[in-house]
Amino acid sequence: MRGGYTYESYCTAAEYIRERIGWTPEIAIILGTGCAPFTERIEDPVVFGYADIPNFLVTTNTSHAGTMIAGTVAGKRVICMNGRFHYYEGYSMEELNIPVHVMHVLGVQTLILTNAAGAVNPAYAPGDAMIIKDHIKLHLGSPLRGPNIAELGPRFFGVSDLYTKVLRDLARTCAGTASLMVHEGVYMFFPGPQFETAAEIRAAAILGADAVGMSTVTEALTAAHCSMRLLAISLITNMCTGVIDEPVDGSEVEGVAAKAADAFSSFLYSIVKTI
Ligand code: HPA
Repeated sequence: MRGGYTYESYCTAAEYIRERIGWTPEIAIILGTGCAPFTERIEDPVVFGYADIPNFLVTTNTSHAGTMIAGTVAGKRVICMNGRFHYYEGYSMEELNIPVHVMHVLGVQTLILTNAAGAVNPAYAPGDAMIIKDHIKLHLGSPLRGPNIAELGPRFFGVSDLYTKVLRDLARTCAGTASLMVHEGVYMFFPGPQFETAAEIRAAAILGADAVGMSTVTEALTAAHCSMRLLAISLITNMCTGVIDEPVDGSEVEGVAAKAADAFSSFLYSIVKTI
């Protein structure tokens, strides 16, 4: 699909969104597993499905709603993607740049990503949050592989301040009043949909990972390509395979995410308010 995309393909999607909402959002937020309750805090919401947006992607994941919600949060104009797209759903790395590039063309300057992640760091616990300070992606491929669209960003681009430092500092100040424990650490991407083996998690720990997950890095790299400010926060839903002597399972991940959702949403709200 991505093979045929031109700058105009992104503009058509952005134009559809602009017509539906009538203004330019300042902040885009992509909500991961269990983060949906945040959408209840959006005032004067305008809601539409991903399937209605031309040249967009369609979610296949039953725990992700697949709706776009634009509105006001703490006086800021935001657009929220309730549910994201993952490599494990069958999308190529290249297709996964589409949502963030569309947000960029729409005029969004700041991107916030949330996700569910498993803890490699034994000092973390399910229900904690982690501000992502950097990532490791050893998996082959990049969302920016293929012909470069110069209107979106340069062919080669730096990632030294990928997770924007001023936004991480700001999120840390909000952590003081949050009702969940907030860490700052390194996120490692695994393609899924299987959870990791104990040996993979031991390797991740040696490499410096604090948490692992199956999303976020494609969106983060796309944000760097088009020079957006970026903040990413993980909700820790489980200890990874081998970190504790219990198997990881998907329903546990969703159960912990649902329980921590209110505290996580309040933390996110305070960040949006402070930005
Ligand atoms: N591994 C990968 N992705 C995840 C995990 C995990 O343990 N928990 C939540 N998302």
